Amino acid sequence: MARNRRTNQKIQPASAYFCAQIQNMKQLVALIGAVVLTVSLVVLGFTYRQAHEQRASLLDDLQRRTALLADSFKESVRPSYLSNASATMQSLLDKFAGRERLLGLAVYDNKGGLFETSAGLSQDLTQNADVAEKAMDSDSATGDFASTDQAVYVYATPLHEDEKIIGALVVYQRADYIGQSINETWKTSLLRLLIQALLFSLAVVLILRWIIYQPIMRMAEAIRQTRTGKSAGNSAMFGHGFFKPIAAEINKMSHSLILARTAASEEARMRLEKLDSPWTAERLKEFFKAYLRDRKIFVVSNREPYAHKKVKNEIQWDVPASGMVTALEPVMEACGGLWLAHGSGSADKLTVDKDNKIQVPPDDPKYTLKRVWLTDKEVKGYYVGFANEALWPLCHLAHTRPIFRKEDWLEYRKVNGKFAQVLLAELKDVQRPVVLVQDYHFALLPAMIKHSRPDAEIGLFWHIPWPNAESFSICPWRKDILEGMLGADVIGFHTQQYCNNFFETVGKEIESLADLEKFAITHQGHTAHIKPFPISVAFNGAEDNAPEAKSELLERLDIKPKYLGLGVDRLDYTKGILERLRGIEFFFDLHPAYREQFTFLQIAPPSREGVEKYRQFNADVTAEAERINRKLETGSWKPIVLLKEHHTHGEIYPLYRAANVCLVTSLSDGMNLVAKEFVAARDDEAGVLVLSQFTGAARDLKEALVVNPYSAEETAEAIYRSLTMPESEQHRRMKKMRDTVKNYNIYRWAAEFLKALTSQG
Ligand code: F6P
Repeated sequence: MARNRRTNQKIQPASAYFCAQIQNMKQLVALIGAVVLTVSLVVLGFTYRQAHEQRASLLDDLQRRTALLADSFKESVRPSYLSNASATMQSLLDKFAGRERLLGLAVYDNKGGLFETSAGLSQDLTQNADVAEKAMDSDSATGDFASTDQAVYVYATPLHEDEKIIGALVVYQRADYIGQSINETWKTSLLRLLIQALLFSLAVVLILRWIIYQPIMRMAEAIRQTRTGKSAGNSAMFGHGFFKPIAAEINKMSHSLILARTAASEEARMRLEKLDSPWTAERLKEFFKAYLRDRKIFVVSNREPYAHKKVKNEIQWDVPASGMVTALEPVMEACGGLWLAHGSGSADKLTVDKDNKIQVPPDDPKYTLKRVWLTDKEVKGYYVGFANEALWPLCHLAHTRPIFRKEDWLEYRKVNGKFAQVLLAELKDVQRPVVLVQDYHFALLPAMIKHSRPDAEIGLFWHIPWPNAESFSICPWRKDILEGMLGADVIGFHTQQYCNNFFETVGKEIESLADLEKFAITHQGHTAHIKPFPISVAFNGAEDNAPEAKSELLERLDIKPKYLGLGVDRLDYTKGILERLRGIEFFFDLHPAYREQFTFLQIAPPSREGVEKYRQFNADVTAEAERINRKLETGSWKPIVLLKEHHTHGEIYPLYRAANVCLVTSLSDGMNLVAKEFVAARDDEAGVLVLSQFTGAARDLKEALVVNPYSAEETAEAIYRSLTMPESEQHRRMKKMRDTVKNYNIYRWAAEFLKALTSQG
């Protein structure tokens, strides 16, 4: 079982770039928007004020001019009015009315009645004598705007005879030019604002691009090159201008890093010949360079190391739950090369290039993943059928009967051929390639490749157990399978026992020459070496000393037991989950005082749901957990918390560290990396591992409490022992197990495998 080391990250290179650009664009737009908004507010404020002042000044001017005009007309019209000479008055008013913005004139009598108007003055204006009356009442000139649709300024001044008010002269002035002038001011201002905003945005884009973005990108690239060891990080790339001081510091850091890396490489080179501990990614890289020089590594597996899926409208990736991926991925990160695998993610096709390739890890590319597409029929026959309904139960002695269907076998052969064709195309121009075939999905692939490319060095690693010869003999296509495997130069198993079983199986099934001393089998002129390589995790003692991280999951689930038990397995019948649950039930029966004190958390992501047996197993586990919970639960406490979801390594790691006991009770398991991951996570050297005797890991981790998972009593007793074990004993056991995993981590596994492979022949 393995889990995500990193998950739910967005995204693959092409879309990652696209998304980053969109993100940058969003920030740029936000920045420009904020600045433009600020400038706009300032400009609008000023314009508003300007318009206000302009209006006041124009009004003042209008009033002043109107008053002057009225005063000058007043004396001229008074005689005609006194003599009631309407015709004379009319011609006078008409004469005056043509001037400037003058709309017209009118004379009212002292009762507010209209005496005479200039020609063309609308009735709307003259029928309202309010302004004239106000002027006469107050005996002073009065001005106001007419309440009509037109913008007209009405100014009235009283006419006198001696001291007596005899009427009023009203002057109508056009005032629409005031509004027009204000509008003009706004228009000009807004146009200016638009031009300013455009120029400003352009300036921001150019400044950000040339002065900030490009130098930062250059610096990031230089740092990346230094970090990945591709170059010394050319100082010219580190930047200039504003960034000079930062660039200088980064430059120094980069040089220190190069020096440290060179020293580490040198040390690693000196220790190359000895395959002892400690092994690190760096040391494997050096080993790889020294042993393989420019030769390229090709890994082939069914399960891909990174799968992309669409979640809502976003593409995300995760690392599938697979022991094989957990082990091989760090090796590929260290050595680079090409990994060929079935593209099974729902968004896999959207994220590859035209050659179906993608650089991974998606967030920090170090090698190439090439995806092979399979039809539903192929998946059903090759993967669901032959690999998982026939070979899986055949190799795991978990008392599940294998199902052999001819049509599944044909698909299996066809898919092995399909992968062989894709791989051979990749190997075309590569001299003496190193091919690492993974697992029982590709038993036929080694011979197919060897046949076309005898110069390729082919390693096959079988990640699951190999049964005894008698058990294997029930397979109708056993000879084809063995001949296919024997095309490899090295065939690796987790334990010597599986090697022995294989040796015995070949001896029983096909004509071949066995060399017991070298543990090699020669068949049809080609020799394959059979060797144990106990697979492991990427533990080197440093990276696992991560700061204590609290389990958000436990907090979210509100699990606060005094003692926590943990199980982490794919929902697979070989993992002994049902037996484990019965062991826990038995434990509570024997030790009821632990009720409400001990909670068992089982992380169990569904697996191989296309296979009926797995669907049934899923239902059985759920029912069993519910039955035990119903029997034992009290208040809000439940003895078993079953989480049937995929969890990331980041989520599982704190659980490993929080658990008092980790239960690995597989009925049959090639190695079981959960056991090793639990040990690697416990840098506090506390916690107890309960481990099935039927796992490969039980041979390495001898300080675990080893149990027969079929015995509920043994499991119950081991749980009790774990919870009552003195701290000093926990430390002693855990320390030894940590030393074992540290001494034989995945880097050493890879180095030993590659060394065995390249030193044959
Ligand atoms: O750990 C054994 C193994 O077969 C791996 O090789 C495999 O990747 C893993 O189990 C999970 O199975 P699957 O890839 O079918 O989900």
